[in-house]
Amino acid sequence: MAFYETQLRAALRLFLLSTFLALSGCASLSATDQQNVAGKTYVITGASSGFGRGVALRLAGMKANVVLAARRTAVLNEVASQAQVAGGTALVVTTDVSKPEDVSRLADAAVQRFGRIDVWINNAAVGAIGAFDTIPVEDHARVVDVNLKGVIYGSHAALRQFRKQGAGVLINIGSVESEVPLAYHASYSATKAAVLSLGRGLNEELRLAGLRGPIEVATVMPWATDTPFFEHAANYTGRTAREPAMDGPQKVVEYIVYTSLHPSEEVPTGWKARAAIWSHHLAPDLTEHVSANISHTSQMEHAPPVQPPTTGSLYQPMQGGTGVDGGVRARMEREDAERKKAESGQ
Ligand SMILES: NC(=O)c1ccc[n+]([C@@H]2O[C@H](COP(=O)([O-])OP(=O)(O)OC[C@H]3O[C@@H](n4cnc5c(N)ncnc54)[C@H](OP(=O)(O)O)[C@@H]3O)[C@@H](O)[C@H]2O)c1
Repeated sequence: MAFYETQLRAALRLFLLSTFLALSGCASLSATDQQNVAGKTYVITGASSGFGRGVALRLAGMKANVVLAARRTAVLNEVASQAQVAGGTALVVTTDVSKPEDVSRLADAAVQRFGRIDVWINNAAVGAIGAFDTIPVEDHARVVDVNLKGVIYGSHAALRQFRKQGAGVLINIGSVESEVPLAYHASYSATKAAVLSLGRGLNEELRLAGLRGPIEVATVMPWATDTPFFEHAANYTGRTAREPAMDGPQKVVEYIVYTSLHPSEEVPTGWKARAAIWSHHLAPDLTEHVSANISHTSQMEHAPPVQPPTTGSLYQPMQGGTGVDGGVRARMEREDAERKKAESGQ
């Protein structure tokens, strides 16, 4: 009996250790990684704020060439100046990723200026938060135009160039929602699932063509992260946008840069994203119910009801929200303190 107990304990320890190892892991860049970035050319869509801006500046600090694409030209020019000061070389190409002609012009401009494209990062996206049938149908269509069609246009331009060069890394920014759909984000989650599916299909095509290895497609899947995304999202909840247990943006920036040097097909950014994806593989319905319940409490009950309906930056870029950090965690703390105070009748 004692023998079996010892075996059982050892098995349990092994299980816990392997679970810990599977969920942990980070993306730290070695000195060699940093040298390998120097002189490489990166195209980054959505480079005016959030992850895109953070990645552009991080890469510039390692002396990369960064081609900055988004709609806000003045903000991109500011990012370009910072990138130059940090040691990189920057090119600004005003781009609306929902327009195939803009994306094709972006690829041409990058090749004309730097001769090649080593890494293409499809990062630009928009969100629409609210009950599915409360959000106007044209807003759902626009989410698809930017988040899915934009990624298809970018992937097409990048892979054509990579085939000419014989090498390249395509990074598409998905989300933990690529695997775990979230209530009140239905069409956004659907586009992110499609982005993951696109990457999986492209890698198979590359394998069949004997090009897998020199050319790789990676989908980076961040957990909810504090960027201007929530300020930019269309919002029909009547409440301020929020997410529980947010990560800070710099962690995701490091994952994206690391992936450009060590690409793999699916890259959850940290233990929360890994745990959610793992849990969804084991128990999909339960994971979706729990995620939806958390989203409902956080978004529909705890957020203050002060927000008029907005299309955010879906159709036109917004002036606000130009940083890497979105200030959402600080706002949520203030809102929670106010709510608790009101509940306790003080
Ligand atoms: N923050 C999160 O919690 C989170 C979690 C998982 C995944 N993600 C993904 O991470 C990526 C970056 O988002 P973020 O969090 O950094 O939010 P963000 O700060 O709002 O960045 C979005 C970027 O996309 C650009 N953009 C929007 N529409 C565009 C269009 N039609 N054409 C070209 N550029 C456009 C925006 O710039 P302009 O307005 O200047 O065009 C901005 O630079 C997105 O793919 C998002 O889905 C975010």
